[in-house]
Amino acid sequence: MQNKIIKLKEEFLDKLENIGSEDDLKSLEVEYLGRKGKLTQILRGLSGLSLEDKKKIGKLSNDVKRELEDKNKEAMEKIMQNSLNDFVDVTLPGKKITKGHIHPITRIQNELEDLFIAMGFMVLDGPELESDFYCFEALNILKNHPARDMQDTFYIDPASIKNSKGSFDKNGEYDMVMRTHTSPVQVRAMQKYGAPLRAIVPGRCFRNEATDVRHEHTLYQIEGLMIDRDINFSHLKAMLEIVGKKLYGEDTRLRMRPKFYPFVEPGSNGEYTCFICRGRGCKLCKYSGWLEILGCGMIHPNVLRNGGIDPEKYSGFAFGFGLSRLAQLKYGIDDTRLFMSGDMRFLEQF
Ligand code: PHE
Repeated sequence: MQNKIIKLKEEFLDKLENIGSEDDLKSLEVEYLGRKGKLTQILRGLSGLSLEDKKKIGKLSNDVKRELEDKNKEAMEKIMQNSLNDFVDVTLPGKKITKGHIHPITRIQNELEDLFIAMGFMVLDGPELESDFYCFEALNILKNHPARDMQDTFYIDPASIKNSKGSFDKNGEYDMVMRTHTSPVQVRAMQKYGAPLRAIVPGRCFRNEATDVRHEHTLYQIEGLMIDRDINFSHLKAMLEIVGKKLYGEDTRLRMRPKFYPFVEPGSNGEYTCFICRGRGCKLCKYSGWLEILGCGMIHPNVLRNGGIDPEKYSGFAFGFGLSRLAQLKYGIDDTRLFMSGDMRFLEQF
């Protein structure tokens, strides 16, 4: 028995010496050390021996097995090393690994999120497929009211959504829409968190637009709202001035002119000094010196009530930026449709 083991070992080492390939080495391992290998068979045959022999031979064959395994591993390492030396020319230039980067709209969104988080605002999300109630009615835009015309809406055909759990109006009609703005999250946030409240809502919106260089059916907005006791218009103005300076530089000024939005009263637009001509007038600002960037105002009492907040106790402001528009202006992009085009020649410039 002992001799047999020693012979096996010598046989193995002989063969090992002449092996040059990984595959041969693997089959040698299987032949001797595998589950049905020659050495393993011997170990299995120990049961018929006396206890003393069992101990002696068992130890020997285990030692040999370990030794052969080590040798085998060594040989494998050598082969791997050689094959590396054969195939890798370390003097060749490396392969360039292309890295992705952040989309220009996401970049502006991140910048604004950082700014508002630093001022104690929460960052919230809301559904893109929204009920008519949150998108319009809760915001004081009633059914069949001309204010609905301000935003061309994609209404959803219930037949197109199987097992829909969406909302239904009084007449049992399915009334879900692709949200046209991020404002529905105003009321959702009020209902969830109550007052006082500070939140911004970046997100994707949809409008049934005939697209052109300034209009796209899918656009990004960032909504903001702040509700507390004694919040007034000057707080809104200060906040918007901070945003303008952050986006377009310290010498940026803000101009506000009255504008109607059903969910604010009073309502206003917001324009910043054109960052190209710094107010002198140029093609981008159509020679006015100002760029219209946002809508804003003091939250309408009806909207506060719909959110479960008492307008006698609390007041608040809200604003909405077109993120796509911000990015378009900031980077001088002449066609807003490029953002959604997925065209690498466009995206790689940022
Ligand atoms: N939701 C408005 C829009 O999309 C913008 C807005 C937000 C206006 C908040 C006032 C207050 O046009």
